[in-house]
Formats: sequence, C-alpha cells, structure tokens
Amino acid sequence: MLKRSARGLPAGRELCHHRPPPIDARLRADSQRDQILMIKLRSLLAALAVSLPLWALCACDRYADIKAELGPADLARFKRGVRLATPCWECHDITGTGVNVGPHLSELYGRQIGSLQSYGYSPGFREARWSWDARSLDIYLANPQGSMPGTTMVSPGMTDPRQRADLLFFLKHATRKR
Ligand code: HEC
Repeated sequence: MLKRSARGLPAGRELCHHRPPPIDARLRADSQRDQILMIKLRSLLAALAVSLPLWALCACDRYADIKAELGPADLARFKRGVRLATPCWECHDITGTGVNVGPHLSELYGRQIGSLQSYGYSPGFREARWSWDARSLDIYLANPQGSMPGTTMVSPGMTDPRQRADLLFFLKHATRKR
C-alpha cells in the first residue's frame, strides 16, 4: 500500500528510496555471504585435491592402466620394453593415431601390413598381404631392411632375441585398443 510520506513527497519517490537495513541485519547478511563463499571455496579445494593426482597420473604415466594389471615379473618386462621402444617414438606414434615419419602403431597386432590409408608406404608394404603378429614383428624388427627390402624404415635391427621379446611384450600391451 502506497502512503504519502510525512514530508509530502509523492508516493513514487518513497518507493525508489531504499532505506539501508539496520546495521545488525547488514552484518548478519555479510557474515552469511562470507560463510557461503567459504563453503564454495572449500568444495573447490576438495575438488582440486581429488582431481590433481588424477591429472598427474594421466600426464606422467600413460601406461598406468596396463601396469596395474601386470604381476611383478611382467611389470619388469614391460618396463624394459618401454625403454627399448624409446627410439621408435622418434618416428611412430605408438599409442595414438598421429602420423609421423612412420605410420602410427595403434592396434598393431592383427593389422594388415601397410594398411593405413593415412600413410604413404613403400611399394613392398603396400603389396604385402599378411598381418602383424608376434612372428612377423619379430622377423621385421630383427632386420627391417633385410626382411622387407626397399622399406623406408631406416632403423637398425634389434639383434638380441631377448630384447625383441621384451619390446614385443611392450608393443602388444601399449598398442592394443584402450
Ligand atoms: C627413423 C624412423 C623410424 C624408426 C626409428 C622406427 N621406424 Fe618403424 N617405420 C618407419 C617408416 C618410415 C615405416 C614405413 C615403412 C615402409 O613404408 O616401408 C615404418 C613401419 C613400421 C611398421 C609397420 C607398420 C604398418 O602399418 O604396417 C612397424 C610395425 C614399425 N615400423 C615398428 C617400429 C618399431 C617397433 C620401432 C622401434 C624399434 C621402429 N619402427 C622404429 C620409420 C621408423
């Protein structure tokens, strides 16, 4: 209900005029606002505390999920394979689907040789009709240029069969669909 003020101002002027609330009400409102802010801040911090280790895990160890499945002996083998595969990363995206100097190696086992549309293989690779498995990889990686004459993969072979076995163990796990 609009009333005319005592000073005789039109009622509309009264409406627009916000009287400041009494000081205790304002203080209460302020402290309520602070409390809400603190609650928001605390939940933000809690969310950060939970997600930071996850981020760190993803950023630092791309094989965390694989390692979690392996027993101690296999884990040691896998780690040796990771080290042996270091030079391969120069030319291959091993776990993703990027094209580099060489084709990516994602889902390598069971893949037909030279079959990625995204990559321009040497003629020998394009014409071959078999698929990659433990046996063909073992032969190829022992001596790339000797086993696939004309291949553009300029990489010295890995002559030690135990090292190849470790490398293949790593490749089998790291290149599988995840
Ligand atoms: C200097 C670069 C280079 C390095 C290092 C290298 N590769 Fe290659 N790789 C290539 C190229 C280029 C090709 C394509 C070969 C062709 O078309 O003849 C290839 C092809 C392959 C293929 C066949 C893929 C397909 O789609 O058929 C496999 C498997 C492979 N490399 C594994 C490896 C592994 C494992 C290592 C590490 C031990 C490695 N490569 C190191 C350049 C490299």
